[in-house]
Amino acid sequence: MREVILAPSLLASDFGRLAEEIEMINGSEADYFHVDVMDGRFVPNISFGQPIIKHISKWAKKPLDVHLMILEPEKYIEEFRSLGAEIITVHVEACPHLHRTVHQIKESGAKAGVALNPHTPISIVENLLEDADLFLIMSVNPGFGGQKFIYNSLLKIKALKTMLIEVNSNALIEIDGGVGLQNAEAIIKAGTDILVAGTSVFGAKDPLAAVKAFKSIPADISIL
Ligand code: DX5
Ligand code: ZN
Repeated sequence: MREVILAPSLLASDFGRLAEEIEMINGSEADYFHVDVMDGRFVPNISFGQPIIKHISKWAKKPLDVHLMILEPEKYIEEFRSLGAEIITVHVEACPHLHRTVHQIKESGAKAGVALNPHTPISIVENLLEDADLFLIMSVNPGFGGQKFIYNSLLKIKALKTMLIEVNSNALIEIDGGVGLQNAEAIIKAGTDILVAGTSVFGAKDPLAAVKAFKSIPADISIL
């Protein structure tokens, strides 16, 4: 049976107890650590950068899924890779030479992800379907955790999944923002492979139970 991939977002964790929060996820059924880097320019918030990622890397026993919400991400690809990033995702809106940046990420040895803001149509990646390893559909405007899921994202996922199938691409679809147990099944059915979940994991009374609940959702795609 197909199983959804779960990537808890450390942005919603307690930074004062970061090592413990990471240990908790290490011992859970979650698959990746989602790591949100914000520069205060591409998005209106600053999160953390290389020194913290170095620390995360030291503790994490699952792959780091690094989401770069920064301008000129191409300047930092090799550095993030050397700090342990297994997936590096850049935003379409921040990359005038996206094809080049995607291949730069792949050459660094990481998997290349391409993220789209809520207003960005999926047609923009039509000519990159076979280049990127994953597409991240933002279901909130990036910059902050704990926002409301934008339901139009489901239509984007369905359409993107159809486009990927048409060209026989194995690229994965990841969704990020406002994902919770109440909407996860519909999101997965639309064709999503990876769920990012911040508040709904770290803000839960019992985060381990929340992870378990996400992982036990039936993961069949309805459009196939
Ligand atoms: C938003 C970040 C998300 C965020 C998700 O800009 O990219 O990864 O941490 O947080 P929740 O799950 O709380 O919406
Ligand atoms: Zn993110």
